[in-house]
Amino acid sequence: MPDLANTDKPLRIGLAGLGTVGGGLVELLEKNATLIRRRTGRNIELVCVLVRNLNKPRSVELPDGCLVTANPADLVDNPDIDVVVELMGGIDAARSLIEGALRNGKHVVTANKALLAEEGIDLLKLAKEKNRILRYEAAVAGAVPIIEALRVPLAGQRLLSVQGILNGTSNYILSEMSTSGLDFDTALKQAQELGYAEADPTLDIDGQDAAHKLTLLIRLAFGVNYPYTVLPVQGIRGMDARDIAMAREFGYRIKLLAEVKRVNLDEGDDGPIRLAAGVYPVLVHHTYLLARVGGVYNAVRVESESAGSLFFHGRGAGSLPTASVVLGDLLAVARDARPNNTGFADENIPRASIVPPDECLTKYYVRVMVPDTPGVLRDLAGCMAREGISMEQVIQRSNDGGHIVPLVFMTHEASSLAMKTALQHAMDTGLLHKPAVCYRVL
Ligand code: NAP
Ligand code: HSE
Repeated sequence: MPDLANTDKPLRIGLAGLGTVGGGLVELLEKNATLIRRRTGRNIELVCVLVRNLNKPRSVELPDGCLVTANPADLVDNPDIDVVVELMGGIDAARSLIEGALRNGKHVVTANKALLAEEGIDLLKLAKEKNRILRYEAAVAGAVPIIEALRVPLAGQRLLSVQGILNGTSNYILSEMSTSGLDFDTALKQAQELGYAEADPTLDIDGQDAAHKLTLLIRLAFGVNYPYTVLPVQGIRGMDARDIAMAREFGYRIKLLAEVKRVNLDEGDDGPIRLAAGVYPVLVHHTYLLARVGGVYNAVRVESESAGSLFFHGRGAGSLPTASVVLGDLLAVARDARPNNTGFADENIPRASIVPPDECLTKYYVRVMVPDTPGVLRDLAGCMAREGISMEQVIQRSNDGGHIVPLVFMTHEASSLAMKTALQHAMDTGLLHKPAVCYRVL
């Protein structure tokens, strides 16, 4: 493996916020240090952490020499810091930190959708003016990389609509009320304990958090500003379990949906882009993919003119899922303008350490054609047992008096070689009328 540790200067970061997401980021920086170096050709060093309360006990361990401070100037004015990562939340303190960082020539990574929805346009302008990078993948749909998808692979075509389940807390509450029979307050309390909810959870349950995120998606999808203050927004506060149950009886699931549709596609792109948008609880038929997005998961469905519909799905909140995309943003900054066509810093990609296909483990579905005589199942089970394969379920269908009948079984995990050997043995001993049909089971 090439040693990339010293091929370039480390990227030095100042982290504002050591809560759910900030703590997750510190953990990932340590755990994935080698991978980060291989991906970017440099180390990422945590120089300084800003918190509100210096006396609060912390569950994460900071690297040696990392300063912990309650003074934002220690980040913003520190010439040793290349990137400020803002994971504090809130508006005023976060805005002033990000503005200060950009003015002092630092790149910024943030997950703060409230700030970006309210003041993002000014901050993005400032970043451009200062020729600095401002990335915010974690601000929408947690680990789902929808911002990059809209900015890059989907950027060359006209988009018709974006629909999303964008708030993990609300989706968790609705799912728990629907499947576990929890009441609203208990489900919300659990979401808070799991680190999904905002510091002020009314933003989640009243739909404002989803509205913030929708504002960001509208900007990226259509290049226009739809102020979140004029978006029609209805949250899930006061959702009655009876409506969830009745909707289920009609074949629907209730989801908090954020959506935007372009209504004047036929008018071309030179005039104003006319949009219908909002955030509201919606009954979604159970056969739709969006209806199957459960718990803390988020999903975004994009309808595009040339590529048709695309569906993005993943964890919408929580410490490590969210921190993982904050880290992805940091890697993008660390790579800067360097070509990175393989996804790694060194294009001499080493050969993988390969598990021989015969040793790969999976469950199997097997159908054999066997004579309908006593002892066949025992003999077949014997062939499997010889190779250490355990049968999980067996079905034998009678064949209208026919002598050769199908016998179908599912196995526990077995190696490919064991399965091949067992079936060959069954064939060689005359047990099978013809070669077995054998498929892997996911
Ligand atoms: P959190 O657990 O409440 O942590 C916030 C951290 O910021 C704490 O360490 C706090 O310090 C610090 N902080 C807050 N205000 C500060 C100030 N004025 N000065 C200095 N430090 C301050 O929040 P979180 O859940 O990690 O969320 C952070 C950001 O990520 C928010 O913008 C949120 O919307 C966004 N986000 C969160 C998730 C998620 O799943 N939680 C997902 C996506 C995006 P103390 O520890 O000393 O109190
Ligand atoms: N509170 C937010 C949610 C965090 O529940 O979706 C992720 O943005």
